[in-house]
This record gives sequence, structure tokens and C-alpha cells, in this order.
Amino acid sequence: MFKSRRPDQTFEPLLGLRSVSAGYPTARVLHEVDLVVGTGEVVGLLGRNGMGKTTTLMTIMGRVRPRAGCIFFDRQLVDGLPPFRIARLGIGLVPEGGQVLRNLTVRENLVATARPPIGGRTGWTLDAVFDLFPRVCERADRFADRFSGGEQQMLAIGRALMTNPRLLVLDEATEGLAPFVRRDIWRVLAELKSRGHSLLVVDKNVASLGSLADRFYVLEKGRVFWQGSPAILLADPVTLHRHLGI
Ligand SMILES: Nc1ncnc2c1ncn2[C@@H]1O[C@H](COP(=O)(O)OP(=O)(O)O)[C@@H](O)[C@H]1O
Ligand SMILES: [Mg+2]
Repeated sequence: MFKSRRPDQTFEPLLGLRSVSAGYPTARVLHEVDLVVGTGEVVGLLGRNGMGKTTTLMTIMGRVRPRAGCIFFDRQLVDGLPPFRIARLGIGLVPEGGQVLRNLTVRENLVATARPPIGGRTGWTLDAVFDLFPRVCERADRFADRFSGGEQQMLAIGRALMTNPRLLVLDEATEGLAPFVRRDIWRVLAELKSRGHSLLVVDKNVASLGSLADRFYVLEKGRVFWQGSPAILLADPVTLHRHLGI
């Protein structure tokens, strides 16, 4: 158990990276990364472009293999497992750019990923996802290729929720979207948090992420450079400027 920002709350570790180093044949990217997400916790992962945020998420999902270190999820070692097994254990990814099936309707996109929840929890249904995203609901029978970037991101989040993940991982879900669409996505993430979902969120909007997250990690050249309370980071203009370019 460890303490987080919510003062009266402790979190059971759900995901843990211990001294994980990883990269690509041509580039070593992550160096001895330690990172924990607790059950019901929202963790923000920050860093300028190219610092290794997406690589961290890809390593968690099993799409990049760690060279060293270990990754556990729900007390099981998961590093080395194929990506589909990691997904089935309950990690749902909303990848950069959303990536929906453009030649299917919204409803088909959502049904395609549906999986029952593990451990007798109440699961997400089509109606529950539509309630969360009324804009997407209005267009349930339209093809996803007609959707704007923001609507595709919402649909991508819906698709991930339909897998009933125990941890939802989002890579730059608000990137490049109009402010009102971003606000809608932050509203949904706040709603998921209030329902007790565990989230690992990569996003450049430090202020919005700061109001949502219990803890922040900042990556600098593939190492965890800073971790702690969002309030402390947001009150530190020097670190924000030097390490996040804000
Ligand atoms: N498929 C790949 N092959 C080789 N190098 C990569 C690949 N993907 C990313 N990189 C490199 O890894 C580093 C970290 O990238 P990435 O994890 O995408 O950073 P971020 O998400 O923080 O912007 C960058 O230097 C990038 O060029
Ligand atoms: Mg990235």
C-alpha cells in the first residue's frame, strides 16, 4: 500500500514497473524506469516529445520487450507475455491517434472489442458507453470514417472501456483537438475516476491532467526524472519550463 494525493486514501499497487529498460533495435530508450499505478489511482506520465512516454506504454502493453527489469500487473509478472495476453489480463490502451476501425459503424466498433469483466464486477455495456458519450451515441449507426478527430478519440475510449479493463491507459487522447472537445474528454476521464477506474494518462496538457491525476511522473531521456504530487509540480515554474517546455 502507498499513500497518494487523496490524503485519506491508500492504493493497492495494480501495475508496477521495476527498473525497466527497453527500446528498439536501433535505440535504447527507457533506462531503469520505476513506476506504479494503484487500484483506483490516476497517474499522469509527462515529458517533452521523444522522452519515452509512448515507449513506456508500449512496453507495458507487451509491444516492446524490456531488456531488463520486470513488470507486474495484479501481482503477476507480465513482461514477456504477448500483447493479447496482457490486454486480456485487463489493460486497455487508447493508442495515440485513437485508431478506430473506420469501415465499421460506431456500434460495430464498440461491439467488436466487448469482453466481460474479470472477477464479477459490473461491466460496461453499449448503453453505458453511449451515456458517457452522448455525441457518439447520436451517430451510433454511422461509419467511423465520417467522424472528426475528437469523435474518433471518444470512440477509441469507448472501445477500450468495452474490454472492461482494470487499467485504462491513454496516449495523448486530447492531442490536436479543439478546446471544447478536449473539455469533453477531460469530463469523461473525471467521470471514470469518480467511478473508481485506474488510469495511466499521457498528455501534454499539464494543467488539466494536474486536476485529474493523483500523482505525476516526468520522463527525461527515458528516465524518471521527477515524481510526486501534481500540485507541487504545477507550483514549480522552473521544472515546468526546463523539463516540460512550459
Ligand atoms: N519504432 C521505433 N524505432 C526506433 N526508435 C523509436 C521508435 N519509436 C520511438 N523511437 C524513439 O524513441 C524515443 C522515444 O520515443 P517515444 O517513446 O515515442 O517518446 P514520446 O512518446 O515521449 O514522445 C525517441 O527518440 C524516438 O525517436
Ligand atoms: Mg508519444
